[in-house]
Amino acid sequence: MREFPWHLRAIAALERRLMHSVLPPFPANRPRRLRRTPGLRALAAENSLNVGDLIWPVFVRDGENVEEPVASMPGVNRLSVDRVVAAAREAADLGIPAICLFPYTGAAMRTADCAEAWNPDNLSNRATRAIKAAVPEMLVMTDVALDPYSDTGHDGFVRDGIIVNDETVEALVKQAMAQADAGVDIVGPSDMMDGRIGAIRTALERSGHQDVMLLSYAAKYASAFYGPFRDAVGASGALKGDKRTYQMDPANSDEAMRMIARDLAEGADAVMVKPGLPYLDICRRAKDSFGVPTYAYQVSGEYAMIAAAAQNGWIDGERAMSESLMAFKRAGCDGILTYFAPAMARLLA
Ligand code: PBG
Repeated sequence: MREFPWHLRAIAALERRLMHSVLPPFPANRPRRLRRTPGLRALAAENSLNVGDLIWPVFVRDGENVEEPVASMPGVNRLSVDRVVAAAREAADLGIPAICLFPYTGAAMRTADCAEAWNPDNLSNRATRAIKAAVPEMLVMTDVALDPYSDTGHDGFVRDGIIVNDETVEALVKQAMAQADAGVDIVGPSDMMDGRIGAIRTALERSGHQDVMLLSYAAKYASAFYGPFRDAVGASGALKGDKRTYQMDPANSDEAMRMIARDLAEGADAVMVKPGLPYLDICRRAKDSFGVPTYAYQVSGEYAMIAAAAQNGWIDGERAMSESLMAFKRAGCDGILTYFAPAMARLLA
């Protein structure tokens, strides 16, 4: 375990208690003094949200010059490769450091052996090459999991109704290698199989891809908030059953710390908590316990709730977006995967 020593945490807790005990009573203490003007509020702000904190997930589809709206995610489109390149250039101009690719794979390419996952010329790998050629400074992240290529919609192989672990890990390694060969900067295993981080790290080292960053979806919960994403990648119709034998139970918190410790020990450079807002306690605990780069994924359902309410005029969309993203910084995250990335970047500019 790489948790901080208990005595350092105890000292920090004592310091905090001491700090509260020196506060004078009212009227010497008037906290509103620090909230009086925008300047004072800026000086007193404990956290800040920067464009450099944002990773933008995008949906890629076949074709040319196509931009197809995702019905359950107002403002989000599936883009053909040429449009993804244009989007990456725009994102780079806004200062967004990274883009994360999710392929929308046609039904014909979803098979039991999931072979399209490690096809060097699959949609995701083609998009990676095109982006790296046109916008080299844009970091490209890809998803390691079989669900876009599987006829069952599951992240792993299914045998007799069971998601098999070790065979899936072998396939995930092939998939990650194809992504690394295509030039990705960051691979993000989101599959939740056991042992995949170590296997992928070893394969990356052996194949000369020692600088590829491994961002583990370490604490990924079996969540209802992925619904719109499954529409976006065309997996909702395909998915048989649910993902509870590999994704985590929302009731658990200690287990998330064990998953993070394990993935770091296996060679992850950074970890992710997913979904985001319903799991801010996990973000904070992860950051306090391990002190490693920690990311949250504000997932499709979280985006849809804010975007739909804003569309109806029920909330102020810009403010809700900013507030929700600041929450991640307050909870200790170093960055956020969010479909709001370009909108937030424009607001910050
Ligand atoms: C699948 C994957 C999912 C998401 C990212 N990768 C869905 C799932 O686990 O079913 C969800 C992202 C989102 O909802 O925005 N490997």
